[in-house]
Amino acid sequence: MLIKTNRDGFGHPVASEITPQSIYEGRRNLIKLMASGVAGAALTSWATREAHAQSATLTPKPGKLAALPNVRASLPGAITLDKLTDYKDASTYNNFYEFGTDKSDPAQNAHTLKVSPWTVQIEGLVKKPGNYALEDLLKLSAQEERIYRLRCVEGWSMVIPWVGYSLSELIKKVEPLGSAKYIEFVTLADHKTMPFVGSRVLDWPYTEGLRMDEAMHPLTLLTFGMYGEVLPKQNGAPVRLVVPWKYGFKSGKSLVKIRFTDKQPGTAWNKAAANEYGFFSNVNPTVDHPRWSQATERRIGEDGFFTKKRKTLMFNGYETQVGQLYAGMDLKKFF
Ligand code: MTE
Repeated sequence: MLIKTNRDGFGHPVASEITPQSIYEGRRNLIKLMASGVAGAALTSWATREAHAQSATLTPKPGKLAALPNVRASLPGAITLDKLTDYKDASTYNNFYEFGTDKSDPAQNAHTLKVSPWTVQIEGLVKKPGNYALEDLLKLSAQEERIYRLRCVEGWSMVIPWVGYSLSELIKKVEPLGSAKYIEFVTLADHKTMPFVGSRVLDWPYTEGLRMDEAMHPLTLLTFGMYGEVLPKQNGAPVRLVVPWKYGFKSGKSLVKIRFTDKQPGTAWNKAAANEYGFFSNVNPTVDHPRWSQATERRIGEDGFFTKKRKTLMFNGYETQVGQLYAGMDLKKFF
């Protein structure tokens, strides 16, 4: 995200080389997480299911973290033929403001995030509220690899093979009441482990929201991994959302609460600058951000002196799947 005001006196390190040691440490911790069984149930179910399925592993393994075996993209239309973004770029060029505002900050600083034990609180207008342990969330449904484009509002994009299952699986399990029209997603705000929580850049915790039909759409992914591995901390471990037809900031990282409500919830960036970041935030090349165009994007990893920017696609290329959700709406007004 681009911040309008000057920085608020927090001394960020300038964008610099990521220390291989910190990445290594982060990965060791994730491997431990997997070894402790947190990810085990999910892996078992994949393995069993995939043993009987026609296997087509699409993801080249980054080869450093423990790999998730036999994961394949299985949702029609969710696969893109675009080249995958390199794992290194996807895990070192991040927005995760709790760890700093430079793109290199999350990979440098997120090693302090404690991802186990982890629970997600489900509350509000729902028949089965409660604290759901990560282990239970992992067991809830079989997981798939989904290769999605991620288009950031700042004008860059990536193509990432995420691993998870449709959020709708969880929603159905907890049985929302008929009065629930929206879902608010609350992410972790822990002063002790997140050095920028408390900075004046945003109102913490970082929250996001979806209309119920958006949350129920099969493309909306409750995400536990990427590139066949558990999520690196800087990418939102241990569980995040990915909503591929919306600007990247709708995809909240390190989720701790999912609240069902009858009112449109406030969202972090909308609270910070309502005229710049709307509630819907659907990728839309015809609706400019007040300070820049949204018509084109720079694909991370493809930067060269002569590289032309790509044309941004309506709903980030997922129009066939999601366009109907917004039929009749003025998308300039509901941006
Ligand atoms: N979630 C939290 N909690 N804090 C953040 O600062 N940044 C968002 C989103 N989720 C953010 C967040 C933005 S602006 C983007 S583009 C994506 O995460 C980036 O996800 P990635 O780092 O996995 O590419």
